[in-house]
Amino acid sequence: MTKNVNTPMNEFPLLKEGDGVVLFYPDIDKSAINSVGDTLSGRWIGQGPKVEEFERRIADRFLDSAAPLAVGSGTDALHLSYLLANINAGDEILVPSFTCTATNIPLLYIGAKIKFLDIDPLTMNISIEDLKRKISDKTRAIVTVDYGGICCEYSEINAIAKKYGIPVIQDAAHSIGSKYDNSYVGNQCDFTIFSFQAIKTLTTGDGGMLVMKDPQNLERAKRLRWFGIDREKKQGGIWENDIQDIGYKYQMNDISAAIGLSNLEKIDSIIDDRKSLYAHYLAGLSKVSGIRVIQPSSGLSADFCPWLLTIIVEKDRMGLMAKLREHGIESGQVHYRNDRYSIFGSRRDDLPNMDLLEDAYLVLPLHRRMNHETIDRIVDVMKSGW
Ligand SMILES: Cc1ncc(COP(=O)(O)O)c(C=O)c1O
Repeated sequence: MTKNVNTPMNEFPLLKEGDGVVLFYPDIDKSAINSVGDTLSGRWIGQGPKVEEFERRIADRFLDSAAPLAVGSGTDALHLSYLLANINAGDEILVPSFTCTATNIPLLYIGAKIKFLDIDPLTMNISIEDLKRKISDKTRAIVTVDYGGICCEYSEINAIAKKYGIPVIQDAAHSIGSKYDNSYVGNQCDFTIFSFQAIKTLTTGDGGMLVMKDPQNLERAKRLRWFGIDREKKQGGIWENDIQDIGYKYQMNDISAAIGLSNLEKIDSIIDDRKSLYAHYLAGLSKVSGIRVIQPSSGLSADFCPWLLTIIVEKDRMGLMAKLREHGIESGQVHYRNDRYSIFGSRRDDLPNMDLLEDAYLVLPLHRRMNHETIDRIVDVMKSGW
């Protein structure tokens, strides 16, 4: 797709040269300003009709038969998914080593035993070989992350999980709008979570969505979202409902849902524009030596909505970062291997691909305040070497 190089990809002004190029920029549709105003003038600002409408609209757009539950963050959705997957203290869970710590921290709330998986060097998603090596009869669940928007190989992962009779929890914080085997993310796994945090592909300011393949989980999920209380029955006036599950305060509110609904109106342009930016980067970066771009490793995940543009730098990543910074271009790591953090037990030695790439990956700016011309500027800086 071609885009006019002089206009940004959304309605807000393009970042000017003097502004520098930041790594992320919130993608807000202008209509959100009015719809938040309307919401603030109305009766519901907490969890009300807009939250329900947002759930319905996400389901209409992306889900076949899975049930959505809007929550306050992707992290809330992850915690609920682990509870609904019946993960208990001491259970052994296979998780990605390379992800936002939010994927794995809720397992610590529960006291589960985390076992880190190595990365696939092409995608930085979990390595299927390492999954096959580490899975055992003790494993109670597999957690994946679709790094940067590229889906993991779910046909293989689900087949392995089925063999062991355990659930797969897909952290799709980066991959809303991506497809796996022609089907939108949200339809592959037992549980999928989306994040609508400030800089995600679809933002509600802060927010998240838990998607459950088995809709029978929905009633309990709703109670866990709201202190363990059956809100619908309570609103019907029946106060004698017992509370049997320790619940949380994980609901989305109508102010966030109003932002989400406005942005969702533009989701097709958002997805197309992000794909267009990524494709333009790919073409430009193919002329830069000493780097490679993180890309899908199979045809099944080829149709994806990129959230990050990550490169592997053969030599001197810090030198490239410094060079880009000199030209006002921000770059960074965004996520770090989780096994290094004290809360996860400090560094382990069984992740050879992660060891190889941990000092080599770099994330470049990708958002709709940029256009093809912005990317040309970044590529030109890189072409001159570092
Ligand atoms: C991979 C991943 N999982 C989970 C989260 C947590 O989402 P949230 O910030 O909405 O809680 C994030 C980022 O924010 C993320 O990048």
